[in-house]
Amino acid sequence: MSLIYAEQLTKKYDDGDTVVTALDRATLSITSGEFIAVTGRSGSGKSTLFHQLGLIDTPTSGSLAVLGTNALALTERQKTAFRLKHIGYIFQDYALIPTLTAIENVALPLLMAGMSKHRAYAQAAQTLETVGLAERLKHLPSQLSGGQQQRVSIARAVSHAPALILADEPTANLDHESSLSILAIFRRLTEQGITVVMITHENEYAKLTDRVITLFDGAVTEDVKN
Ligand SMILES: Nc1ncnc2c1ncn2[C@@H]1O[C@H](COP(=O)(O)OP(=O)(O)OP(=O)(O)O)[C@@H](O)[C@H]1O
Ligand SMILES: [Mg+2]
Repeated sequence: MSLIYAEQLTKKYDDGDTVVTALDRATLSITSGEFIAVTGRSGSGKSTLFHQLGLIDTPTSGSLAVLGTNALALTERQKTAFRLKHIGYIFQDYALIPTLTAIENVALPLLMAGMSKHRAYAQAAQTLETVGLAERLKHLPSQLSGGQQQRVSIARAVSHAPALILADEPTANLDHESSLSILAIFRRLTEQGITVVMITHENEYAKLTDRVITLFDGAVTEDVKN
């Protein structure tokens, strides 16, 4: 099934006197359960592409369908609801709330989506278990290693069972071993039918995915299966 279909997707930033074309007529199609790496040098438009695919931003032109929904026709409110239901976002710096424990960080979006406290905590605990953190539920982010913090952030991104995970350089701050364990978790998620799209600068990690999309100056210059 087609999960994402983007055609001629373009994003221009206009700061008054100069216009930057951060994303330049990108066309791509992504199906359910794919594990995809997005690469390209700094400034090539990778994060900009993610902001469009994740419905965080609005493209300047082009078309975008996510799960068959025309993303450009949604209001801000509908976009937020769509994101909460279908998309999980993972950041390079984990973006955990420092004053909340692991389980509280994972439960928070579930509570915000209206789940009961009892169910949200049960689901958060179960998801943390699947990323190997059953023994760390009550630890604060500062009491966890980088790799453990990134696993909490993955648990937070997947606990509401999204169809799509967007991970923007999830291993950039991690050592080799922790990075491989994150990639193994992503692989497992794709086997469950979840689509994972990951930005990485590491060729070695890109090779462990199914497909590599390369951007250059905002344009898709390569799209190859591994
Ligand atoms: N909000 C913004 N306003 C103006 N220009 C922007 C904005 N966001 C990004 N850009 C520009 O768009 C281009 C693409 O940026 P983007 O962040 O997508 O690159 P990237 O491939 O993710 O780079 P990196 O590997 O360094 O994270 C860059 O030239 C950047 O300066
Ligand atoms: Mg970026």
